[in-house]
Parts: sequence; C-alpha cells; structure tokens
Amino acid sequence: MMMLVFADLATGQTPDDKNSLDEKVRKFLNEQGNRWYDMNIPESDGQLLYDLIIKNNYKSALEIGTSTGHSGIWIAWALSKTGGKLITIDIDEGRHKTALENFKKAGLSEYIDARLADAHKLVKDLPGPFDFVFSDADKEWYKNYFVDIDPKLKVGGCFTAHNIRDVAPGGRGGYGGQAEFLQYIRGLSNYETTVNSRGGGVSISYKRAAK
Ligand SMILES: C[S@@+](CC[C@H](N)C(=O)[O-])C[C@H]1O[C@@H](n2cnc3c(N)ncnc32)[C@H](O)[C@@H]1O
Repeated sequence: MMMLVFADLATGQTPDDKNSLDEKVRKFLNEQGNRWYDMNIPESDGQLLYDLIIKNNYKSALEIGTSTGHSGIWIAWALSKTGGKLITIDIDEGRHKTALENFKKAGLSEYIDARLADAHKLVKDLPGPFDFVFSDADKEWYKNYFVDIDPKLKVGGCFTAHNIRDVAPGGRGGYGGQAEFLQYIRGLSNYETTVNSRGGGVSISYKRAAK
C-alpha cells in the first residue's frame, strides 16, 4: 500500500525530517554538555528562548552577541519548527568561526545567517522587521540597541535581553547598562516587561502597540 507523507506547510519538512533534526540537535547539545566557556547562556535560558518562539510562532529573529552559538542553537532550533530564520551578530572572529562550526554540527546552519560585524553599526543597518530579539552583547549598549530596533520590531513581537536583574517596576536597581535599559523599557507604555530570574536573568518585553 502506498503511504502519503505530507510536508509541513511552514517549514517544508516531513515528520521524518523533523525527528532527525531534533535528534541531531539533542545529540550535539548532550555531547557538548556544560562545555560552553565563552560567556554563553545556561541551558535553562536556552529553553526559555525556545519556548517563547514556539509559543508565539515567531519567525524573524535577531540575536546580538553570538559568541560560540549556544543561545543561537536554541533560537534556531525553535525557528526550524516555525519556519523562521535567525540573524546573529558577533564582532569576534574566533567565536564567530566556532559558532559556525557548532551550528553545522547541530544541523541548524540553514536557519542561521551569522554575521561577523560590529553590532553598533549593523543593528542600525538591518532593515527588519523582526518579531523576536535576543540582546546579549555589550551591556552598556543595551539601551541603544533597543532604541535602534524598536521601529523594526513588529507589534506582538518580543525583545529579550540577558543578564538582567529583577527589580520592581519603576525601580532602578540592577547594574550598569542593564539597569539603564530596564528603566527605559519599563517606562514605555506600549511594552509589557517581566524578568525571568531562573537562569542568568532574562528580561522579556512584549510590544503591545506601535506607540
Ligand atoms: C555574552 S556573549 C554572548 C553569548 C551567546 N549569546 C550565547 O549564549 O552563546 C557576548 C558576545 O557579544 C560580542 N560583542 C560584544 N560587543 C559587540 C559588538 N559591538 N558587536 C557585536 N558583538 C559584540 C562578544 O564578542 C561576545 O562574543
């Protein structure tokens, strides 16, 4: 008897494709274990980013600060299911090259456009639009990155940032550039911000209206 196998309309993948990609990513992450030594996020934060993308069906993601690719793998893994793509930026050539190798080993290269560039400039130049952003590069620039991305973030989209310490809404708290960023974004009435403190501290800001 002939079996009909349907491909997913969003991703073009058959169920077999999906299973084998999941296996490949899991195998890579398991083999890598805790050997993420380049300021990478902990696994729990990777799972958090993954869940946000799946829950909201995000498709056009931007990451600032690739390092060797741990967060990029979690983000791209989720995008492989939504039919999306990630642009990720790092200024360091060594880490950028290692990230490219890691993306390949995890089987996720086709979902990632990794740029070797200064994000201060490239973030301004990228046209967008984006529906998911993860900011994890130079902390003193967090507010500037957000200001540049805000007009290119879709309503319903989400801007996340790493190493954010939870402070009461309206409170300053936190440290350095992260505190300046958190205070700024919490002052915007069209964004709704919470902080997840389970891992390295991730702020999650949903854009609820254009202005
Ligand atoms: C905390 S690490 C990123 C970790 C990564 N998100 C992960 O979890 O695997 C920060 C990275 O930001 C990069 N970075 C710092 N300043 C930058 C800039 N101006 N443009 C692009 N990348 C920058 C650094 O080279 C470093 O690799």
